[in-house]
Amino acid sequence: MKRRTFIQNSAIIGTGLSFSRKYAFGKFQQDARITILPEEQIGKIAPEIYGHFSEHIGGVIYDGIWVGKDSKIPNINGFRKELVDHMLRIQPGNLRWPGGCFADSYNWKDGIGLMSERPRRANFWINTPFMKKAPDGPSKYEPNHFGTDEFLQFCELINTKPYLAANARTLPAQDFIDWVEYCNSPPGRTTYGDLRVANGREAPYNVAYWGVGNESWGCGGDMIPEDYAEAFRRFTSFVPEFDVDLKLVAVGPSDSWNNRDIQWTRRLFTRLAEKSNSWTYIPDRIAGYSLHFYCGTTGNSSIDYTDEDYYEHLWRADQMEKIIMEHWNVLGAYDFDRKIKLYVDEWGAWHKQMTEVHSTHLFGQTSTMRDAFIAALTLDTFNRHADKVAVANIAQLVNNLQSLFLAHEDRFVVTPNYHVFEMYKEHQNGQAVRTEFSAPTTDSERGLWGLQGSASMKGKQIFLTVVNPDISRHRETEVVIPGAKIKTAVARVFSSSNIRDYNNLDNPNIIPAPVTTNLNIQKGKLVHEFKSASVTSLLIEVE
Ligand code: AHR
Repeated sequence: MKRRTFIQNSAIIGTGLSFSRKYAFGKFQQDARITILPEEQIGKIAPEIYGHFSEHIGGVIYDGIWVGKDSKIPNINGFRKELVDHMLRIQPGNLRWPGGCFADSYNWKDGIGLMSERPRRANFWINTPFMKKAPDGPSKYEPNHFGTDEFLQFCELINTKPYLAANARTLPAQDFIDWVEYCNSPPGRTTYGDLRVANGREAPYNVAYWGVGNESWGCGGDMIPEDYAEAFRRFTSFVPEFDVDLKLVAVGPSDSWNNRDIQWTRRLFTRLAEKSNSWTYIPDRIAGYSLHFYCGTTGNSSIDYTDEDYYEHLWRADQMEKIIMEHWNVLGAYDFDRKIKLYVDEWGAWHKQMTEVHSTHLFGQTSTMRDAFIAALTLDTFNRHADKVAVANIAQLVNNLQSLFLAHEDRFVVTPNYHVFEMYKEHQNGQAVRTEFSAPTTDSERGLWGLQGSASMKGKQIFLTVVNPDISRHRETEVVIPGAKIKTAVARVFSSSNIRDYNNLDNPNIIPAPVTTNLNIQKGKLVHEFKSASVTSLLIEVE
């Protein structure tokens, strides 16, 4: 066993260490401290950070979101009702569609108009060995029943912002412009706007977020950064605005926990910057720079892993912070005013394939409490970088990688990831403030911080979220807010009896919902025991 060390997680490490050592060696009652610094504001937490991703892959769209209007499964205009109800509870910040890799094979014109007349196409994922064995159906042969109008209506139903990914591999820029016209043109102005009206939708959808391709270095066209720079310029030289503040997104790299593709970022921006007079000034064109980070897996499967596998996986997920910083630092050399924000529009765990709830679902995973901790520590990371990260999308919403939901036919279940998003929604639109976490590291080969999290403020309310990853140690912790007096605090604690616990369609209620308690504040002092292997939120009122 590695010797335990004591670490403080914050942007400024110096000052806390002597204090921390005193705590570590037992002179004080508590063994950890969290210091929230309201004066040190980071930035407003964009609701879009709490975003989701829905691709035409396996069981995400068909069976997951769309069951059809004539289905016996409870639905609202064809959308699975239980899913709609749960999405409303978590206040999703945005929903990305139609991919993923699928996006660069998709012709949006296939998915509009009378459903019975829409063409059928081979789905992008049909060649994977898993899908080859799958029975025929919509996950292999795309029926186009769920198209642009269905997606945008779904977004309205769940009260979220749409984020569309345009095809930059098999379609020309004109089709992208046509798509923008279809979605955003007022009635009576353009042919595509009128086509939308003829298809039953009068008011423009006003879609703001548009990705120009997806993973263009791979499934999105096998491009080198210089090729993509050329494609991006061509796609974005003119895009009709229709009074919508368009947010155009350039494709960035895909990073793993041990390999970060800084070269893609450097080469892409170097090439984009070669042409930068005032009209084509690159930071004015790119609202978002997309990053993808899948933290992979450890252990034998999504449900079969040792304690050490668990710590190792959390540590790998925690590399998100480095990924953000490294690409952000490179961007700084090209975007002096810091107009371009990071859009982490695919992130999550990617376990070995084997726990799909149905043979038509691809990359379906069973999410255990380990995944919930990964979700929580990642959302905390985004909050701590609220000045840099403006959009993020966990992959993917239902029946896929790190999903919030599993569904098949009339059965539906929430995963532990759902509870984390439900808890963390309070951060949306809050002002992120710097927070120091001092606690002994975990008892594990891979020394992981003992406590980590994020805090945000709305007036006199501070919302703190904290992950205690240690399987066996509770952390008695004093929460300190210099310059403020704590009046009240309400805790919500999310944990389960075993880190390997999960819900599935046969056992939908293994994972308990977070438990709420009013905390006792003595003379403005807040001491809380952060339970082992838990995610906790504290809603603190100060004066
Ligand atoms: O989320 C599954 C796939 O992972 C996406 O289609 C692709 O963008 C990424 O490689």
